[in-house]
Amino acid sequence: MTTQRPNGLPVILDVDTGIDDALALAYAVAQPGLDIVAVTTVAGNIDVYRATGNTRNVLAFLGREDVPVHRGATRPLTRAQRGASHVHGTDGLGGADLPESQRAIDVTPGPATIVRLARERPGELTLIAVGPLTNLAIALNVEPRVAEWIPRVVVMGGAYHVPGNITPHAEFNVWADPEAADQVCAAPFGDLMMLGLDVTMQVGLSREVWADLQQRTDRPAAGELAVRVGRQTFVDAGMPQMYLHDPLAVAVAVDPTLVTSETVRISVTTSGEEDGRTVSVGPGPTQVARGVDADRFLAGVHRALGVRDVTAQ
Ligand code: BDR
Ligand code: CA
Repeated sequence: MTTQRPNGLPVILDVDTGIDDALALAYAVAQPGLDIVAVTTVAGNIDVYRATGNTRNVLAFLGREDVPVHRGATRPLTRAQRGASHVHGTDGLGGADLPESQRAIDVTPGPATIVRLARERPGELTLIAVGPLTNLAIALNVEPRVAEWIPRVVVMGGAYHVPGNITPHAEFNVWADPEAADQVCAAPFGDLMMLGLDVTMQVGLSREVWADLQQRTDRPAAGELAVRVGRQTFVDAGMPQMYLHDPLAVAVAVDPTLVTSETVRISVTTSGEEDGRTVSVGPGPTQVARGVDADRFLAGVHRALGVRDVTAQ
């Protein structure tokens, strides 16, 4: 096992791209301390084929067509897919209309890629999961040692002390595949961090920042991406901010001091009216974020997107 990281912290990103997933990719690409080893995709916000195309196109748009993208699960473990096109649009990217990536398709499926990389690099990888947890659950089902080989997992998922965003009780990623989330929370990972709506709804890209970015003619590719994926949220839906759920997970993987947390055991409700609810069942090994340094995180996002004067925003 190597402890040197000449290329930065090696990560696998598991995404269902998705507006804020696209911004998470942009944020990740902008971090010199991150080595994006692979990206795996999953059915969630949108079907997995579109999520995969979106991911490939976003990476190409950001000049990172070199990053391998592996298509993952086509549907949740035991259920039909339930998407979020009401938030992300029918294309999943709010009508961003990105050029098609020219990279050849990577043929190894997402869960198999997670198992392979975990086996090849035991003790090295951080997995950042910002969609339903289907791929990681499949990987754990076929190879339980994944929990031992991947020392650190950062998940965007759950609503712990706040209401849900898809039902009164559930956050979307967990609700989309509750069985997978429950299995991941029960697996013996050494370091599992859950970032729920408790913290991710404290961080948003403001309409003012977006409008400023939009007016500029010299914005970098990441800023142009934010302008394109933000149009539906700000112009069509007239929202005051665009939530940065998924970029926060990348940021916490790089800098865990951005959040404070409690350590508990999480169980996920898998039926009934509270389907998809994340329930704390006492002390345990999982870190659940309770507080976030929103200003410091947003300053980092603004830097990544090339926003002009981060202190003035
Ligand atoms: C999560 O659900 C998805 O719609 C977003 O991409 C994010 O991962 C927020 O609940
Ligand atoms: Ca997502």
